[in-house]
Amino acid sequence: MPTYWVIELAIQDDFPILQRLVNGHRLIYLDNAATTQKPAIVIDAMNDYYTKHNANVHRAVHTLAGEATDGYEACRDALKTWFRAERCILTSGTTEAINLAAHAWGHSQLKGRPIVLTEMEHHSDIVPWQMLAETFGNELRYVPVKSDLTLDMEAFEASIEGAGLVCVVHTSNVLGVRNPIEEIIRIAHNHGAKVLLDAAQGAPHCQINMAELGADMMALSAHKMCGPTGIGCLLVNEETFQEMQPFMGGGDMIETVTLEGSTYQTNEHRFEAGTPRIAEAIGWNAALTYLGTLDLEQQHGRLLEIARHVAQELRSMGMTVYGRHDDDDSSVVSFLHPTLHSEDFAHLLDARGVAVRTGHHCAQPLLNRLGITGTVRASFYIYNTMQDAEEFLMHVRNILERFA
Ligand SMILES: Cc1ncc(COP(=O)(O)O)c(C=O)c1O
Repeated sequence: MPTYWVIELAIQDDFPILQRLVNGHRLIYLDNAATTQKPAIVIDAMNDYYTKHNANVHRAVHTLAGEATDGYEACRDALKTWFRAERCILTSGTTEAINLAAHAWGHSQLKGRPIVLTEMEHHSDIVPWQMLAETFGNELRYVPVKSDLTLDMEAFEASIEGAGLVCVVHTSNVLGVRNPIEEIIRIAHNHGAKVLLDAAQGAPHCQINMAELGADMMALSAHKMCGPTGIGCLLVNEETFQEMQPFMGGGDMIETVTLEGSTYQTNEHRFEAGTPRIAEAIGWNAALTYLGTLDLEQQHGRLLEIARHVAQELRSMGMTVYGRHDDDDSSVVSFLHPTLHSEDFAHLLDARGVAVRTGHHCAQPLLNRLGITGTVRASFYIYNTMQDAEEFLMHVRNILERFA
């Protein structure tokens, strides 16, 4: 048995949900770009917190409060180490992180300067900037996607003059394409623009070193990397952090409050008003510990091999596959059948225990660019095996034979 089969099987055992049947079939979960499943270590950590340590953080002196605070802050520390980030503001996810960047940094620092976005962005990295532009009148410049599904870098260079910020998705949730972010950051910085990376899809698949990249801000979600829903973060370098102004006011983010006015904390708490997501932070830290036991680079290679095989087989069945699956791309396979509607396809797959995503994947401008309204998306993660892929392909063939 090849060694990575043994690794695959051992990983599957760590995810209790993979034991269940769906519609009488073994669950083949291929909706990982939407959210990933949770290993027992994450579920147990959250359960343990509520069973033994539950309290509010930062305030009380009692033992439980100390334990809860330690657990919450340990997640921040782990994220800073994992991503080599100077500052880590915990949010509800990527969406809130980008909205925070727009309000806490964009409102005071952009001063009406243009913002460069790309046609490949998730709605989370478009709408907050459109809202900001409505208030401050910033010009939004969109870098087009070329027919080979990569960003038009000439157009990017042409659009950077005078821009205050570049917002770019690290890895596309529809295409799996990993963008040339090193080059984008270099060009943006040469022109005095800061860069915000949407790393929601990149972070689960590779070890991103923010310090080495030189990104100014980076947004991501725990739930796409085996952590719980409801928590994510905005990672920020020190210079950008010092430029940010508090956005939400309330408890925990203040130093003093009088009836005349308030002063604010100077660390990350300044941006975390109210009771934070304590159990979720503890769960996310457990997820990082879990991922840290795996060789993510080896996993990436294995999953890409699966994605390439699936893409090739789907093409041979007459599907259009949107993606190129280059070495740095993620293992997302978006496809369309010429006649069978994607929603019908997904229902027929679900009846066979296969979970895939359909629709516009919150990236309508990209789909408009591709001239389509939706795709079927199969996305693979660490617990998926070549056997999952073969069974998925068998079901697809079976569906085509019967319905296409
Ligand atoms: C590229 C990308 N950006 C942003 C998001 C939004 O993430 P969340 O819904 O966790 O805030 C997603 C989620 O699918 C995504 O794939």
